[in-house]
Amino acid sequence: MKPRALLFDAYGTLFDVHSVVPKAEFAELSKLWRQKQLEYTWLRSLMDRYVDFWDITHAALLSAAGQLQIRLTDTQRDALMQAYLAPAAFPDAKPALEALRGFAPLAILSNGSPRMLEAMIAHNAFESYFAAVISADRVKIYKPSPRVYALGPETLGIPASEILFVSSNVWDAAGAKAFGYRVCWCNRSSSPPDPPDFTPDLTVQSLEEIPALFC
Ligand code: 2OP
Repeated sequence: MKPRALLFDAYGTLFDVHSVVPKAEFAELSKLWRQKQLEYTWLRSLMDRYVDFWDITHAALLSAAGQLQIRLTDTQRDALMQAYLAPAAFPDAKPALEALRGFAPLAILSNGSPRMLEAMIAHNAFESYFAAVISADRVKIYKPSPRVYALGPETLGIPASEILFVSSNVWDAAGAKAFGYRVCWCNRSSSPPDPPDFTPDLTVQSLEEIPALFC
């Protein structure tokens, strides 16, 4: 069935968080930074102690660098944080969005704060693709809280079951499915589903496969 809208996750799906730390010697830092960032969103959501995604990302960077015993100068730390406002889009994102233009409304639902999302979308010149850019900041909790997923149908005026939610983050795809979306998992790395009992409605290896499923 043709979805009435497509709702995309941002970090890790459209935009590559690891492009922020381009130097190969910092690959471990990039991985742990992302891991801590997600961990802190879950921890703060469970504790009901929301701070925005910028503060989460900053705390995660300090923690990851500390754990890896990487001494970042203030200048290096600030440069990494600034780079987080301008991660590169994955190479398959733009062609997919371009091919989907006009097919159905496209939107973003992300943990990112409004300022971070705005900067990242502008950096990649993606503004014209999206009918809505929805931030978890509106409800002061993070995915996979159903309160965040509820923002999609509320904003778009379309039931979740008629929206295709697209994410490369498997835990996010599982959260969206639990909420009631139709879900497309973009599994670029051919990983097994985790949690193992998660069954997406659709699985692709590249966002570029999505238009051909419907158009
Ligand atoms: C996002 O909300 C989860 O990082 C992912 O953009």
